[in-house]
Amino acid sequence: MLKDRIATFSARPDEVDLCVLLYSGGLDTSCMLKWLQENYNTDVITVTLNVGQAKEFKEIENKAKKLGVKKHYTIDAREEFVQEYVFKAIKANALYQDAYPISSSLSRPLIAKWGVEIAKKEGAEAIAHGCTGKGNDQVRFSITINTLAPDMKIIAPVVEWGMTREDEIAYAQEHDIPIPVTVNSPYSIDDNLWGRSIECGVLEHPEVEPPYDAYLWTTPPEKAPDDPAYVEIDFEEGIPVSVDGVKMNGVDLILKIHELGCAHGVGRIDHMEDRIVGLKSREVYECPAATILLKAHKDLEKFVCTRHENTFKKFVDEQWTSLVYTGLWVEPLREDLEAFIDKVNKKVTGMVRVKLYKGNATVVGRSSEYALYDENLATYDRKSTFNQLASFGFIELWGLQSRMAQALKPEDKKVHSKNVKVKST
Ligand code: ARG
Repeated sequence: MLKDRIATFSARPDEVDLCVLLYSGGLDTSCMLKWLQENYNTDVITVTLNVGQAKEFKEIENKAKKLGVKKHYTIDAREEFVQEYVFKAIKANALYQDAYPISSSLSRPLIAKWGVEIAKKEGAEAIAHGCTGKGNDQVRFSITINTLAPDMKIIAPVVEWGMTREDEIAYAQEHDIPIPVTVNSPYSIDDNLWGRSIECGVLEHPEVEPPYDAYLWTTPPEKAPDDPAYVEIDFEEGIPVSVDGVKMNGVDLILKIHELGCAHGVGRIDHMEDRIVGLKSREVYECPAATILLKAHKDLEKFVCTRHENTFKKFVDEQWTSLVYTGLWVEPLREDLEAFIDKVNKKVTGMVRVKLYKGNATVVGRSSEYALYDENLATYDRKSTFNQLASFGFIELWGLQSRMAQALKPEDKKVHSKNVKVKST
């Protein structure tokens, strides 16, 4: 029965013997490791996914072991993240609310997928995560887990325990949990190859400019080099494959573009975001590689597609991005949309030249064998092959219905008949 195959929800599982913890190594999930052992009396297996975040994975493993895990997994999922998530986002020109390259959103279904895989392999009955009850990540993790493993219990200690930052520090001290050096940072950070999200502290005041220390990756645009840099990116079927003529695998290519973007202060984002749970929140990001690659891809796509394709694809892209942002990676519509997106991207092959200068990435050149641009048609030179005389007939017919509708406007008719009435009395 379908009923048995879909997850039912309960706020808090009662008994758990073995639990997988999605472990970042930070203060929250480290407290959680002990807290799960104490409060659920469960064994814990930690899973840390490398999606390109700036972390020492060996240190994370050692910390987990010191805190008494049964087993720890570090999984290098960078290439999978790029191939299966980031490249799809590029093809879909994914910018949530025209601003955010959904860097954190993209990683969540992948982390959840690995959590489920390991939980199943190890025979764990529950997966615990470090999300709060106010954010998007809990939705993304839970929906993916509930879909892939309907019987899996989900534990959200942060939602349950109600500890403040100070409480957590005290808890850590009591339990001999190493406190990360970043504990005094006012910010909450999530990063991967596709971007870095910065929340909390003074950033919660939307009227205040993000201070310099909120950004870690990118040079302040005003301090970026006075000379611009140019980068040429080759795309094949919508996917970036080489930088300045050098073929690279996905991870290396993104790291290369990331480096160039950081040096020139590209990819700082500050916008008001509509979260899934209804909150409006001020979100700050630095996404240098995403900013450059998304701009380059969109430019090339526009170059090779018809006007009709360009108009329609915008809508499809927005739907795709919205599904992923709102935690519905598992929604079949995502794949349905990808069938269209992939088809369009078959011809998104060519080169894009991007100029990087003091915080800006500007497309300054492009070429493609599929370009719907013909210099002979577009030129104002004598050699033009465009039949200008055809434009008279075209204009007459193109405006036909609009002209007719204007001549027959109901509002004008009313005014007209009123006037007639006035005249007749
Ligand atoms: N607002 C972004 C999103 O929902 C960033 C979330 C960052 N996550 C975090 N745990 N700090 O995708």
